[in-house]
Amino acid sequence: MKVGIDKLRFASAHQYVDMVELARARHAAPDKYTIGIGQTQMAVIPPSQDIVTLAANAAAPMLTATDLAAIDLLIVGTESGIDNSKASAIYVAHLLGLSSRCRTIEMKEACYAATAGIQLAQAHVRMHPDKKALVIGADIARYGLNTPGEPTQGGGAMAMLISADPQVLALSTESAVLSQDVMDFWRPLYHTTALVDGKYSSNIYIDYFQDVFQEYLIKTQTPAADLAALVFHLPYTKMGLKALRSVLPQVTETQQRDWLRHFEYSRKLNRRVGNLYTGSLYLSLLSLLLTDPNLRPGDQLGLFSYGSGAEGEFYTGTLQPDYQRGLDLGLPQRLQRRQRVDVTTYERAFNGQLAWVADDQQTDWQSDPHRFVLTGQQNEQRQYLDRQA
Ligand code: HMG
Repeated sequence: MKVGIDKLRFASAHQYVDMVELARARHAAPDKYTIGIGQTQMAVIPPSQDIVTLAANAAAPMLTATDLAAIDLLIVGTESGIDNSKASAIYVAHLLGLSSRCRTIEMKEACYAATAGIQLAQAHVRMHPDKKALVIGADIARYGLNTPGEPTQGGGAMAMLISADPQVLALSTESAVLSQDVMDFWRPLYHTTALVDGKYSSNIYIDYFQDVFQEYLIKTQTPAADLAALVFHLPYTKMGLKALRSVLPQVTETQQRDWLRHFEYSRKLNRRVGNLYTGSLYLSLLSLLLTDPNLRPGDQLGLFSYGSGAEGEFYTGTLQPDYQRGLDLGLPQRLQRRQRVDVTTYERAFNGQLAWVADDQQTDWQSDPHRFVLTGQQNEQRQYLDRQA
């Protein structure tokens, strides 16, 4: 039985900052940000969006009444939690109108959690082929203003519907996993921004990729040449390019050119959003599927998921005949329609997130065009609004 990604859809903020402008404000060479790091725009998440609203905004438009009735598992992967106890998925299930018989949980392991969610969802659907699972990776990447990590911020949510006979990608049951205690990036409970050893984390990422890539090829006896394209977790798009270059000597020059060409499509949309932690690999997959004219049904795609701390997984998926039907076809236009804001406005949004205090607070949600918004906090409870309710 084929099980995999039936539909996928992305949501982020309605505004972005231009990386050349940000580089100038930080007295950095623009080429460092646009070429050295590989980002051209960065999503500016307003205080009226958090992981709950991003997740609901990503998923709601793609779910039909039939989907809603069949979903009995919702997993939100995130490292931008809003509560130490209650799962963000409960709020998301409520906003989406999922059944109260749906199992609803939040998962954490840095940027890797959405992949763990997909693997659990895949196993669940294999046991219950008439059911569907919704997996959402939702995050806001925050390193701080004027930090080396700043140009690798961003945010958004990728929603993926996992089902039998999927429209987009049939997933392999085999995968290769590596999990070890590594201090490359972490965020203690008292921090709102990540702590990171940037260079170390980039080296560990490549080590992990090489390890799980080789392990997968050996374990499944797959020749590297069988993989039409490789798709990466993209904390910044140059990171994936570095990892890809590290395995190019394993294939012919023609295949090297093919992999590099596919890679350029796979980073197109990530270049315009920035890091979105758990959803990043899957935005790259969507970018490849939406923009690359050289893909064919039947192509086998390799997926590399990496979460600091650290856990990595390599697995594959086979492109299905009608894969375009399950894609978020309007995404390039939505990104195009976003409003460009200056660095001062970006900094105000960055500093204006709801404070981690008990006081009642309000956001400027009226200026946020999304269906689901966070209006503030009252009596220590976050307040969500569905404009269509
Ligand atoms: P930095 O020290 O400011 O940058 O931090 P740099 O000096 O290393 O320069 C970056 C690149 O720009 C270099 O290229 C320079 O040569 C180049 P490279 O040698 O790496 O190929 N450069 C230029 N290129 C063209 N023209 C110029 C120019 N100047 C310099 N004029 C760093 C960069 C990525 C370390 C920093 O932004 C950072 O710490 N980011 C956050 C950490 C991160 O993203 N790590 C990635 C791996 S870990 C991961 O993926 C997990 C994660 O998503 C979290 C999770 O799992 O939850 C982060």
